[in-house]
Amino acid sequence: MFKKIGILSGGGDVQGINAVIASAVIYGSKLNYKFIGFEKSWEGVLDMKYLELDSSNVRGISHLGGTILHSVNKGRFDAKIGSGDVNKIDKDILNLAKENLKKLEIEALIVIGGDGTLTGALQMSDKGVNLVGVPKTIDNDLQSTDETFGFNTAVSVAVDALDRIHTTAVSHDRVMFIETMGRHAGWIALYSGLAGGADGILIPEKEFSYDELLKFLRWRKTIGRNYSVVVVSEGAHAKNETISGTDMGAAELKLSGISEQIMQRLEIMAPSEFEMRNVVLGHIQRGGSPNAEDRNLAKIYGTAAIDAIQKKKFGHMVSLKGDRVEYVKIKDAVKKLKLVTEDSLAFQTAKKLGVFLG
Ligand code: F6P
Repeated sequence: MFKKIGILSGGGDVQGINAVIASAVIYGSKLNYKFIGFEKSWEGVLDMKYLELDSSNVRGISHLGGTILHSVNKGRFDAKIGSGDVNKIDKDILNLAKENLKKLEIEALIVIGGDGTLTGALQMSDKGVNLVGVPKTIDNDLQSTDETFGFNTAVSVAVDALDRIHTTAVSHDRVMFIETMGRHAGWIALYSGLAGGADGILIPEKEFSYDELLKFLRWRKTIGRNYSVVVVSEGAHAKNETISGTDMGAAELKLSGISEQIMQRLEIMAPSEFEMRNVVLGHIQRGGSPNAEDRNLAKIYGTAAIDAIQKKKFGHMVSLKGDRVEYVKIKDAVKKLKLVTEDSLAFQTAKKLGVFLG
């Protein structure tokens, strides 16, 4: 008898999910596993919407962005709002998912997800469902793993944008703000800002001061730098101010707008002193093909998930530690987010180079 493995991807998409799916299926098929891919994350498990996957129908997808299984950010398996509060998923929903997996004779499930999806997976694991997690988030804010796929590609997209913005900022003597993704963690802003030679980098972990920012921009003018490029993480905020976003009811705030808000505030503080523009990179950072590093990381995770199943490491997430794959308990991986600290190497490096950091 072939054993059957289910795969689902939850939360926001990132570049590399298809490479995880393909590598798990190609490697697992050699070990005689059969595969089912659930559509739209746990919704597909609840509604029994799935497709059979085999090594021929996953060929040629590893370089494609998005996820062939589609994804939803919230839905009936919504287990986490914000960075900390855990929702208990309705027990009828958990039972239905468990029953459906049983009906389909799924013996193990691969859950590709970030903090929210894995927090939901944990509740299924506690119900006795055999599952392994694959860490996925563009924000790179998952504890217990060195890196998540998608992050590197997102940083490259942002660096490319910075390079382009730089030349026009210089030609026009403008202050340009580039807003990146990064809800709770500023890794994308920090890494892209450092690589792209940003003059300022504002991240959620370090509240900034408008007075200090203005002082910095004015100081640059005194040394003949009539332009400035500042990277702003979407979750950045000034001291004693809240994150800028649109209320989506029960779901998380839809972030975006902090760069616009900063420009407006500076204009009030220093009318007509700077010519300013902003660019919100948004989902461009999440779309399109994964770069080589993310493809390889995704393939490492996809095959590692099969190894984890073989070793019965259920309730664990595959994780990268240096050049090795380790298995960490999902419950430890989702305990808290991996945030930028002032000790972080990239933060320290930016500081040494005189980048304004808030
Ligand atoms: O958590 C990943 C992330 O890309 C955040 O950086 C961003 O705030 C959010 O997802 C956007 O989500 P959505 O695609 O639902 O707007």
